[in-house]
Amino acid sequence: VFGEIEANLSRALDLIPDPCDLAVLPELFATGYQFRDRDEALSLAEDPRRGQVSRSLRRFARQRGMALVAGIAERAGKKVYNSALLVRPDGSWEIYRKIHLFWDETVIFDAGDRGFPVFPACGTRLGVMICYDWIYPEAARTLALQGAHLICHPANLVLPYCPDAMLTRCLENRVYAVTANRVGAEHRGRERLEFIGRSQIVSPQAERLASCGGADESVAVADIDLAPVSKQVTPRNHLWHDRRPEFYRR
Ligand code: ACM
Repeated sequence: VFGEIEANLSRALDLIPDPCDLAVLPELFATGYQFRDRDEALSLAEDPRRGQVSRSLRRFARQRGMALVAGIAERAGKKVYNSALLVRPDGSWEIYRKIHLFWDETVIFDAGDRGFPVFPACGTRLGVMICYDWIYPEAARTLALQGAHLICHPANLVLPYCPDAMLTRCLENRVYAVTANRVGAEHRGRERLEFIGRSQIVSPQAERLASCGGADESVAVADIDLAPVSKQVTPRNHLWHDRRPEFYRR
């Protein structure tokens, strides 16, 4: 429900199974998505050092001994970012700021300014990207080239293509990906937005290990092997060593 930060936060945390090592929540999961304008986004955004949502996520991660990745509206001075917060069980945290803004986000948010980071967590390396970043293969590729084993992908998808595209992102990079997408609709601006749900956990072999439907709130759960996935495609093909970046320029 747009703007019902406390209720959305507790509803989401209530849905997280226990025990669980890592949970991924949708983009802007506590504020809602369809801000009327930049001022409204600024008024609902928070500084992750002391904001209510960020502090609650850190407390929850410590209590449960788990990591979380969740989409937040991040305020940084006069800037407002569509961000994802990673919190670890020891209370430490990291931020990714969405690079590729979608539709009205381009006039509401500032574009991410820190690239695609990979963070050590859960005994492995987690990459983070947000929603529309999926349409740029460079996003997942950049994360994978930096050693991401699992891509955490909070989303508020409205187009139908991403769940299938992420199978390819996983296959072409030999990574796992967790896309956490919301369900429901918002109609606060000119357009009514319907979110497609279909959250999923995908393997490096492009298998859907777990997935949700499109209509109702639900949780997808899977066990993921933390052993590094070989980039050796055939005895004579290594995904990274065979790249020819000298030919990838425009
Ligand atoms: C999106 O990037 N929220 C579609």
